[in-house]
Amino acid sequence: MAKYIVEGGRRLDGEVEIHGAKNAVLPILAATLLVGKSTILNCPSLSDVAAACAILEHLGARVTKEADRIEVLTDQLTSSTIPEHLMREMRSSVVFLGAIIARCGKARVSMPGGCELGPRPIDLHLSAFEKLGVKIEEDHGYLECTVPDKLRGANITLDFPSVGATENIMLAACTALGETVIHNPAREPEIVDLAAFLQKAGAKIEIGENGTIYIQGVPDLVGVEHRVIPDRIEAATYLCCAAITGGRVVLREVIPSHMNAIFPILEEAGCGLAIKPDTIVLHAPKRILAPKMIRTMPYPGFPTDAQSPLMAVSCVAEGSTIFIENIFENRYKQAGELARMGAKVKVEGRVAVVEGVPKLHGAELVSTDLRGGAALTCAALSAEGVSQIKDIYHIERGYQDFDKNLKSLGAIMETVDD
Ligand code: EPZ
Repeated sequence: MAKYIVEGGRRLDGEVEIHGAKNAVLPILAATLLVGKSTILNCPSLSDVAAACAILEHLGARVTKEADRIEVLTDQLTSSTIPEHLMREMRSSVVFLGAIIARCGKARVSMPGGCELGPRPIDLHLSAFEKLGVKIEEDHGYLECTVPDKLRGANITLDFPSVGATENIMLAACTALGETVIHNPAREPEIVDLAAFLQKAGAKIEIGENGTIYIQGVPDLVGVEHRVIPDRIEAATYLCCAAITGGRVVLREVIPSHMNAIFPILEEAGCGLAIKPDTIVLHAPKRILAPKMIRTMPYPGFPTDAQSPLMAVSCVAEGSTIFIENIFENRYKQAGELARMGAKVKVEGRVAVVEGVPKLHGAELVSTDLRGGAALTCAALSAEGVSQIKDIYHIERGYQDFDKNLKSLGAIMETVDD
């Protein structure tokens, strides 16, 4: 197991090129099961992407990855089962379910385990599949999905705009008979990117003004080449790292409009932002002012994935910040680790109150989850003294070259075997 050793106190200054979005490439890799040959560009090198490619190969697809280009051939699928160890490796593997059922007419997957963010139910996915004509039986921790007749379009209303459920419905509905309408779907940019991939493959998908998704089933889809959108959460994380060190960062290859909910918070914190079509420049003040309140919401609201890094920034701000986490049940696990650095964080259910302190001190820390680990690294960059951050495998799930990029911005850190 590797760990970061970070010597804090250095002001970050420099440029970072943002990679393709993890949360766009994962559902698109599932979508490759619906077409013969796909080429995906701008894919980040992440352990979650490797896990998704392992699932495709287990199903019989041929996958080749060269740098940021992944090619998938699915003309000879040999299985419709995702075994336990592959399902457990990545919680979002559940998004393969819709594509496997649409392609194979059946699927057998193990129930996705919970994760560090709390139980990760998939009730919205399963009830939508049943409306589309899927029969689902639970068998010793496995879900046995079959299609007794045919997948038929349905009118589906999500009582929560679940990203994964929206993606699964899209993947199952593209080649179903008739029309599927998804009311109250997720509206994240990654959903739009999945729709773009599917439309290129011949799917008939329209996204209405109010976000409602209309899908007319087609008999089959054709192979495509698609470039994945940039990772808005990776971008937000580097903005936080510059902000917490009173630094300056230029982010290239971004789509600023995907981050509109984040900018006002950083400006309230006293950061100067210059937004260009594919670039963001942030100048931070010597000491951040505490944003009053940060409440996470479905897109286009403030993204839950940026909550942890912003919490790290608020720990050294002038004033107090109230966080309200409306998406996940247990997304403050980084709070305990931040407290080891001298942060003043009080958590009560979905509410966390952070009272900014002038300085954090280095400590021995353990990454709790992907974004929590990034938040601890962000805090360590500004802390006085040396911090160690263990279990960085969490971070490597979602950040390519995180340490390399931070060092290029001036951070003093190294990655060593623990
Ligand atoms: C996606 O997870 C992202 N992951 C998450 O990013 C992101 O935080 C989340 O969307 C919200 O934006 C990927 O895209 C791979 P949800 P997902 O279904 O699809 C509840 C990261 O850090 N729910 O929108 O799992 C669920 O428990 C990751 O990159 C149900 O109750 O999120 C959660 O509380 C973390 N029943 C809430 O909805 C269901 O059937 C949001 O879940 C499905 C979800």
